[in-house]
Amino acid sequence: MVKRRFLVLNGPNLNLLGKREPEIYGHTTLGDVEALVMETAKALDVEADFRQSNHEGELVTWIQEARGQHAGIAINAGAYTHTSVAIHDALKYTGLPVVEVHLSNVFARDAFRHHSYIAPIALGVLCGFGATGYRFALEALAHHTA
Ligand code: DQA
Repeated sequence: MVKRRFLVLNGPNLNLLGKREPEIYGHTTLGDVEALVMETAKALDVEADFRQSNHEGELVTWIQEARGQHAGIAINAGAYTHTSVAIHDALKYTGLPVVEVHLSNVFARDAFRHHSYIAPIALGVLCGFGATGYRFALEALAHHTA
């Protein structure tokens, strides 16, 4: 049987994990997050396609291409979560189950982080669990699509 393949997307500034505001995001690097995602995928017997971009248009293109290629999307869109109608529209177009992830608890932070353009079309939202949130996201997608 062909393995389900999930797209795990990371938005702007997440390439800086480990160096960026460690008091909020900790010392975990994006490489560490990727290793955790790959380990989780292996345990779930699924595939994960892990990517990061600082460019909204590139993220939109990857999301569009996911339709027909991936079984679901876990996305930490970083600041674009709070601003991007384009990412919302692209996710909606795919028709795929989407799990929104944030390392930090966005609701315990600035008011402008309390609004998400992704949450209304997501299966669910995980925030505040650090890198473990990505593991939970993949587990949620695997369960949902089983
Ligand atoms: C973030 C939260 C966003 O508000 C912020 O802009 C980020 C990271 C998180 O993972 O906690 O870049 O998505």
